[in-house]
Amino acid sequence: MKITLAYKPVTAGKDDGPDRNAQKACQAPRFGPILPFSIHILMKDDFMDSNAKIFVAGHTGLVGSALVRALTRRGFTNLIVKTHAELDLCVQAQVEAFFSEHRPEYVLLAAAKVGGIYANKTYPADFARINLLIQTNVLDAAYRNGANKFLFLGSSCMYPRLAAQPMRVADLMTGPLEPTNEWYALAKLAGYKMGQGYRLQHGFPFISAIPANLYGPGDNFNPQDSHVVPALIRRFHEAKRAGQPSVSAWGTGSARREFLYVDDAAEALLFLLENYDDGEIINIGAGPETSIRELTEITARAVGYTGSIEWDASKPDGMPRKLLDNTRMAALGYAATVSLEEGLKQTYEWFLENQGNIRL
Ligand SMILES: NC(=O)c1ccc[n+]([C@@H]2O[C@H](COP(=O)([O-])OP(=O)(O)OC[C@H]3O[C@@H](n4cnc5c(N)ncnc54)[C@H](OP(=O)(O)O)[C@@H]3O)[C@@H](O)[C@H]2O)c1
Repeated sequence: MKITLAYKPVTAGKDDGPDRNAQKACQAPRFGPILPFSIHILMKDDFMDSNAKIFVAGHTGLVGSALVRALTRRGFTNLIVKTHAELDLCVQAQVEAFFSEHRPEYVLLAAAKVGGIYANKTYPADFARINLLIQTNVLDAAYRNGANKFLFLGSSCMYPRLAAQPMRVADLMTGPLEPTNEWYALAKLAGYKMGQGYRLQHGFPFISAIPANLYGPGDNFNPQDSHVVPALIRRFHEAKRAGQPSVSAWGTGSARREFLYVDDAAEALLFLLENYDDGEIINIGAGPETSIRELTEITARAVGYTGSIEWDASKPDGMPRKLLDNTRMAALGYAATVSLEEGLKQTYEWFLENQGNIRL
């Protein structure tokens, strides 16, 4: 897979002494012209020490595993990871003990209760309780143990159901939420505002981002929990193997979404970790919008399924449109680079190669 980044930091220069790392967390970002550079341009030496202690919470998940890949690619060697079984982030005592033992300098919170429409509708209490507990425990422990920077992940579900498109951060909390994911969205909004509160009250360097709909290696293919992309991949894969003449898809296919390859998102998140220091959450768009019908057809092609697709309009579509306003990231020089066709092919390859340890 080829990943090219379209941003260039210019913080390294003659004024940058050996201890510039100590200042970085509170520096205002300075960026160069928007130029296509390969990943090595954003090497660790420019910003974070390669030995910085970085806790990636949720490293077995879609986003967490991509963050670990991106950090490893850049030469960071001191990553701290714990499985859910080793450290339950819902349990405050465990989180406190972990933080006082390890005192991570950077905390990337990619652990959460996440799922598609079915899971959100079926387990609203879990989506609220688990997310509120994880983010409260981890944010507070990171603050009290002196972390240099904290990255929180929001979701486009935080926007009102009928927000004007593209959705701007100023639109948050201006209208009713999509009922199918209201409890998840409220927990995410609480996490964002809570982090802002820690910035305001304690000067804690909390930053947060809302990536577009993500997909890629490490995704969850369990039909009860999955988002639309892994759900379609699995359904087409199984239908192809069984020689099924048709596959049923949820809704009308008319809803429109932005899909961002998770490795693109991870690069953007590390870019923000190193360069962004603002309490306002930032959208990470993928552009352009794709209808679920188009997505379904592209996924069928990526999997090699040639049967027909039947739309089950009795099932919900979710929010009619979810397009993020990407102006701020674009101004920082960021652009997604992996096309939907290419990303889906990579994801299906990963799915085939990892049948033994995939979430099915
Ligand atoms: N997926 C998307 O399209 C998308 C889009 C925008 C934002 N995000 C955000 O990105 C973040 C990560 O999402 P994701 O898609 O990567 O989810 P994911 O694949 O389901 O990964 C979630 C991770 O959190 C861990 N986890 C859950 N509960 C835990 C607990 N109590 N203690 C410790 N670990 C726990 C999971 O471990 P186990 O599996 O072992 O429980 C897993 O490693 C979320 O905040 C989400 O809102 C996701």
